[in-house]
Amino acid sequence: MPKKVKTSKNIIKDDQFIDSFLRPKTFNDYIGQGKIKKGLEIILKAAQKRRESIDHLLFYGQPGLGKTTLATLVAGETGANLRIVSAPSLNRTGDLAALLTNLEERDVLFIDEAHRLNPAVEEVFYSAMDSGRLNITIGKGPSSRIIPIDLPPFTLIAATTRINLISSPLRSRFGAIFRLDYYNNEEINTIIERSADILKIKIALDAVSTIAKASRFTPRLANRLLKRSRDIAEVNDIRVIKREIVLEAFDMLGIDEMGLEIHDRRLLEIMIEKFGNRPVGINSLAASLGEDKDTIEEIYEPYLLKIGFIQRTPSGRIATSEAKKWLGY
Ligand SMILES: Nc1ncnc2c1ncn2[C@@H]1O[C@H](COP(=O)(O)OP(=O)(O)OP(=O)(O)O)[C@@H](O)[C@H]1O
Ligand SMILES: [Mg+2]
Repeated sequence: MPKKVKTSKNIIKDDQFIDSFLRPKTFNDYIGQGKIKKGLEIILKAAQKRRESIDHLLFYGQPGLGKTTLATLVAGETGANLRIVSAPSLNRTGDLAALLTNLEERDVLFIDEAHRLNPAVEEVFYSAMDSGRLNITIGKGPSSRIIPIDLPPFTLIAATTRINLISSPLRSRFGAIFRLDYYNNEEINTIIERSADILKIKIALDAVSTIAKASRFTPRLANRLLKRSRDIAEVNDIRVIKREIVLEAFDMLGIDEMGLEIHDRRLLEIMIEKFGNRPVGINSLAASLGEDKDTIEEIYEPYLLKIGFIQRTPSGRIATSEAKKWLGY
């Protein structure tokens, strides 16, 4: 068990330590996403039967929904080595060539943030994914030559939060594409209870449901709220986490009971106050908020749409009466 949290340095170290405990180790521990699990089970079984490497897979969805976890489970299930790299760290085609030629048969290569692949590096992936071959260009101009290098059969698993930014040639090279959706309330409750069990935390039922409601249907956020509630309970020598402790953690993190953060509230306030709650286009909203339009559309909005605080109409989006009520208008 991690020691009592004392300094911010300790918190980070303990947090990473705890996260490795909380990450599901088998498909059985992985709660929800039933359709994806079923699909993966078939793909894994078929590959095992044919004694082939698993086809390349792409996982996409909001941050913290379990993409990296799924990749570790796929590798774990087949006993394959898992190599994890972040797309921005593959700057040059040489980096990728070194990485690919060092793979062993059936290894799983996990590329995180796949939407940030450098286009030249992405192109090298195409032949590696299609034909298991690396085409390296030597020299420049008319005297340049392409040297093909055979690669061991491997599985590429890519993850992204921004599927729209994945080019269609890359997208089409995956054998299956899985979209991770928000978890339902029951699943989030189970995830919190499982994590509390692992961390040997005693927690009241209403405290679990309070965390679940503010978790944005996202396991990572649910775990974070649980961990911070545990910090407050420990510092105050309280043995059972009650709802009041959870609310104190929310206060510390600057979130409310619906899991809204400062940027969510600003977004809604601008829609209500500045635009008099007439439908507003994404560009005006981005300009008023000083945020990138894609960030609003892909990161902020999905949750607000999901809880019915924003509605999209053909002429723009509006904040709903539920949102106004929640914000006290
Ligand atoms: N289905 C699940 N059941 C239980 N816990 C889960 C599940 N999915 C995710 N988690 C927990 O949530 C944490 C975050 O998951 P993960 O790191 O896989 O998310 P991600 O989709 O890769 O996020 P990002 O886009 O930020 O990389 C994990 O450490 C794990 O503890
Ligand atoms: Mg991840």
